[in-house]
Amino acid sequence: MAHRRVRAQPLSLLRRRPSVLLLALFSSLLFLAFLHICASVLRRANDLGRRCLANPSVFSGISTSAMTRTLKIAMVSLSLEEISDGVGRPTRRRSFRGVMAAVGGNKRAYAARMGYDFVDAHDLVDPGRPPSWSKIVAVRSQLPSHDWVFWNDADTVVTNPDISLENILGAVIGQADFETSPDLVVTEDVNGINAGVFFVRRSKWSENFLETWWNLTSFVQFGSTKSGDNDALKYLIRNLSSHELRSHVRISPMQCLFNSYPWYPSWKSVHQLIFSSGAVWRGVYSRGDFMVHLAGLDDKKEWADRIIQELEAQRRDYVYLTRQRPLYTP
Ligand SMILES: *[C@@H]1O[C@H](CO)[C@@H](O)[C@H](O)[C@H]1NC(C)=O
Ligand SMILES: *[C@@H]1O[C@H](CO)[C@@H](O)[C@H](O)[C@H]1NC(C)=O
Repeated sequence: MAHRRVRAQPLSLLRRRPSVLLLALFSSLLFLAFLHICASVLRRANDLGRRCLANPSVFSGISTSAMTRTLKIAMVSLSLEEISDGVGRPTRRRSFRGVMAAVGGNKRAYAARMGYDFVDAHDLVDPGRPPSWSKIVAVRSQLPSHDWVFWNDADTVVTNPDISLENILGAVIGQADFETSPDLVVTEDVNGINAGVFFVRRSKWSENFLETWWNLTSFVQFGSTKSGDNDALKYLIRNLSSHELRSHVRISPMQCLFNSYPWYPSWKSVHQLIFSSGAVWRGVYSRGDFMVHLAGLDDKKEWADRIIQELEAQRRDYVYLTRQRPLYTP
């Protein structure tokens, strides 16, 4: 009896193993299919009814005292690739290599078309801190000569050049005139306020805010993927009184208004999709969004190149279609 059982066990295991293997294979395929479906559904968020630019009310930005003055806006960025951190430690330059070369043309073309100044402030980098902190220096340098400064990290691409920065400000601020507008316009992602893309208005409050942010030296971090500037900004905004927050800061209800993130399958992104699906949905990059931000991605140049190629293909399709079927027949 006992002898037979010992022999029977491995036999039955052997017999069962193919089905176990099949089951494992089948569930992995099912999981891959699930990831693929997630990615394509999220990519079509705007087709499925998501609205990033809800009620784009006209933002005049015209001061009541100054008659018909249009806003002077600077798009400020900083190419990080040629930067060392000044103390010989490795920085994030690896993942930023070639990114400004890939996206510079895209941003310059958008700014020129819209009448904004485009500034690459790489000459202002403070070598004593991780380069990401120098966005504060860069924004401060442009604030006296502009009404609004639109900061965008190097790893961003304008994906819908038909949306103006005034449209975006209008969607967040509404009908306010320049003097009564809030001073800081930001977005929130799964982790809270994001310091990668934001607007700052020229004002005393903004000057003081930027200086206080710069002064939060205890947040400076070297050597990790975090440099601390984002945590410092979060701390600063958390520390504002509710009155100050209400009158000076606006957080866009939709992250995709001007700071969309591409969604790609990874353990982290699947976890976020399951446990913070609302935040993922509000921020995921979908066709028609204003700006994509390659936050947290390592191969930034490849992503930027691919997205720019997609945009060019879309434009070619559009030109082709409108030539075939004119929108207005004479
Ligand atoms: C920032 O630090 C500098 C130098 O320590 C100081 O002079 C300045 O008042 C500080 N600014 C703010 C807004 O805290
Ligand atoms: C945080 O808020 C307190 C109380 O308003 C203020 O005294 C302090 O200066 C703030 N800290 C920073 C870093 O802004």
